[in-house]
Formats: sequence, structure tokens, C-alpha cells
Amino acid sequence: MLLPILCYPDKKLRTIAKPVEAVNDAIKTQVKSMFETMYDAPGIGLAATQVDFHQRVIVIDVSDEQDQPLCLINPEIIEKSGEIEWEEGCLSVPNYYESVKRANDIKVRALDQNGEEFEMEASEILAVCIQHEIDHLNGILFVDHISKLKQKRLKEKANKQARL
Ligand code: NI
Repeated sequence: MLLPILCYPDKKLRTIAKPVEAVNDAIKTQVKSMFETMYDAPGIGLAATQVDFHQRVIVIDVSDEQDQPLCLINPEIIEKSGEIEWEEGCLSVPNYYESVKRANDIKVRALDQNGEEFEMEASEILAVCIQHEIDHLNGILFVDHISKLKQKRLKEKANKQARL
């Protein structure tokens, strides 16, 4: 099922998501719908927060063929190092791209969509994407990382569009 995506500056995007207590059928259905919504958009990552579901679930696929789905439930970054500056965008901030600095290499612990715990290492675009999506679960948007002046201009633009 395709889910509506919240758009900046919707205050619901500031909600801090709760940990998933059990990877049950309801969560599995949510994960499935989130993948469908992400591929349909199309996007390379989607956090539950963006579809107004406030539990810690993210879906990602950074592959060119969009055939490498990755689901992270209750993800935690346990190691990070290096630095990368990447031009980011977000399905919740349409048509807006800005460079953001993040860790280049990370190690993540999470549950998969069957509830099995696993750890993985990621770098470059995958590391950027995971950090971006985990930010969403904490109510943080990539635009929070840019300069105050740029944030002000973006907010003015978004408010203007919201009145149309
Ligand atoms: Ni995003």
C-alpha cells in the first residue's frame, strides 16, 4: 500500500520515534508498504516518521537497479569515523538539495524485517543514507544541518508554497 509522505515544515516530522517492541505482522506490513512507497516515489531511503508512523523503522535501497532492499529496525550506530560531504535531498523536502557533512564510515546494529539482530558496516552513500534516515527517527531533517540563513530561505519558500 502506498503511504502519504509528510512534507517539511510539517511538525509531525519532529516526532521522536519509539523503539519497535516486536517485529510482528503489523510491523512487517508496515515495512512492505514503506518499500513500495520508497520505490514508487522514487527514493533511496524512507524513515517511518516520514509516513507518520512513529516507530523506529527505516528502509533503504541505494543500488542503481533498486534491487537491494535493506530494512533496519531499531538501528543504532555503534561506530563512526571519517568525514564525507554529500549533496542530500529528501522525499519530505521536495526539490531541495544541499551539502551535508557526515561520518564516511559507520557500523550499525539493527533488527532485520524478520526480527533477527545483525550488524553491518557501511560507507559513502550508504552510510550517508543510514545517518539521514536515523536522523528522521529522531525528528531531525537534513536541512537542520545547513546554515541558518539557508534554513530561513527554505522555510520562507515552503510557507509560500503551502499557501498556494
Ligand atoms: Ni529524508
